[in-house]
Amino acid sequence: MRVGGSTIVLTGATSGIGRATAQSIAAAGPGRLVVHGPQDEAEVAELIGGLSAHADVVYLRADYGDLADVARLAADVRAACPGGIDVLVNNAARPGAPSRTLTGDGHEATFQVNYLAPVLLTTLLLDTVGAGRPGRLVNVASATHYSASLRLDDLTWSGNGYSPAAAYARSKLAVVTWSCRLATRRPRETLDVVSIHPGVIATGLLHAMFSAGGDSPEYAAANLLDVVRRDHDNGTYYDERRPATPSPVALDAVAQELLDELTRRALAPVLPAATA
Ligand SMILES: NC(=O)c1ccc[n+]([C@@H]2O[C@H](COP(=O)([O-])OP(=O)(O)OC[C@H]3O[C@@H](n4cnc5c(N)ncnc54)[C@H](OP(=O)(O)O)[C@@H]3O)[C@@H](O)[C@H]2O)c1
Repeated sequence: MRVGGSTIVLTGATSGIGRATAQSIAAAGPGRLVVHGPQDEAEVAELIGGLSAHADVVYLRADYGDLADVARLAADVRAACPGGIDVLVNNAARPGAPSRTLTGDGHEATFQVNYLAPVLLTTLLLDTVGAGRPGRLVNVASATHYSASLRLDDLTWSGNGYSPAAAYARSKLAVVTWSCRLATRRPRETLDVVSIHPGVIATGLLHAMFSAGGDSPEYAAANLLDVVRRDHDNGTYYDERRPATPSPVALDAVAQELLDELTRRALAPVLPAATA
């Protein structure tokens, strides 16, 4: 995929890996770069000003802890990309909540922000990504997904065993499982769906859960941009830049279908009937 001239949507662009990736993409001369974050635009004016010096940039705000806000974001993205989207990068995420927390939508907070919200955004935009030309959906996952269980019988984590790292890993296993399923059911052959572990990176998210040091956000941005630029790799899970085999759970057709069914039910209140 050519980044120059393309319309690229990048979520979670206000910190860490997303911020560094936005800077790399802007420098590569996209046709339009739509960046998202949870803050009001005035709070990220310096970042947006810097990006706008290189590219046509639109900033959109939404809190993934509120699914109605995510649905509004989808409408705003659609309005900002009247010619369609070439690449949608779902990067926004949070560390596991320090203790089990339910959102106002009634979901475990980590699962909602890291999994339900990007699924909702993508579902509402899917008809515009790679329509009539090559397109890519790049879902930022994590190698922590290998350690997780989907807990499909207890999505709100009402049972034992909650920890921030386990909730985070579960949300990322859901992202990889969803990506693998969507790749086999993509709406058109011009759309490639991939997921990526960007590296172990020194960001607020990493340090909220782990004492690991980590590489720089620029290192992860280079990995992410490399994967954004590829093509003909539908269904691939990348460990940094290397194609890798994801957790067997993510490839299990029964787990994929059950997760899909539960996801549809969770999103039904905010999804139009035609897409539910
Ligand atoms: N760091 C690592 O080692 C590592 C490893 C594997 C995978 N990843 C993945 O890489 C991606 C980027 O993570 P990062 O390490 O760069 O973390 P980060 O620095 O915390 O950045 C996360 C981004 O998501 C945004 N965000 C957080 N909560 C949100 C919410 N409720 N609604 C909307 N946006 C929200 C953040 O906004 P703010 O500007 O307010 O923070 C920020 O823009 C994530 O998908 C993460 O799971 C990271």
